[in-house]
Amino acid sequence: MRYLLAPSLLAADFARLGDEIGRIASEVDLLHLDIMDGHFVPNLSFGPPVVEAIRDHTALPFDCHLMVTNPEELVEPLRAAGANLITVHIEAVPDPTSLADTVRAAGLRFGVVLSPGTPWYAAEPFAELCDLLVVMSVEPGFGGQEFLPEVLPKIELARKWVDSHGLATDIEVDGGVTEATARSARDAGANVFVAGTSVFRSPDPAGAARRLRDVIEGRG
Ligand code: DX5
Ligand code: ZN
Repeated sequence: MRYLLAPSLLAADFARLGDEIGRIASEVDLLHLDIMDGHFVPNLSFGPPVVEAIRDHTALPFDCHLMVTNPEELVEPLRAAGANLITVHIEAVPDPTSLADTVRAAGLRFGVVLSPGTPWYAAEPFAELCDLLVVMSVEPGFGGQEFLPEVLPKIELARKWVDSHGLATDIEVDGGVTEATARSARDAGANVFVAGTSVFRSPDPAGAARRLRDVIEGRG
């Protein structure tokens, strides 16, 4: 199994994003970009112009988590801005079949996200369309929340589905990931770990990323 660490830029200092990325880039695998529209979630973050601005600062793949009501409108702008992976909420797009085609046709990888209250069976019919399945472990919209352990059985269901189909689909856990909670998410079957606050709000973000990597790779 490959284990990937994806810091969320939502917890970084927005006044100096290029520097913030530079501090952790060598320790991580992806950058998780939380894109919010103030409608699907009660918060606004940033959109394609900011994604484009940071593209010049790193070669890390961009994992774009779309917390928006109309994700199809963002596929082309995000592709042009340098996105590599687009994930959309199953609550916003209950049948993502054609959107998955659009994202793939744009040359990007595709995934679906489940909010904490959404059961695994909402995504299961579409799991085969996905490179990545994202189980949220906080309510979408804000960083810095506590990990919700009640989503662990959903990670287990996703892992069982992926393994029983002989697929290599990644399973990402997003929200409240710390050294302590990463271990339980890993044990449940996650292999991609989004961490915002625990990395960027640490006095030593690179060290925090290294310690998280030890945990997710089973050394912690
Ligand atoms: C929440 C976002 C998460 C979150 C992760 O809406 O999708 O990516 O910012 O940050 P922490 O680690 O602070 O929960
Ligand atoms: Zn996210």
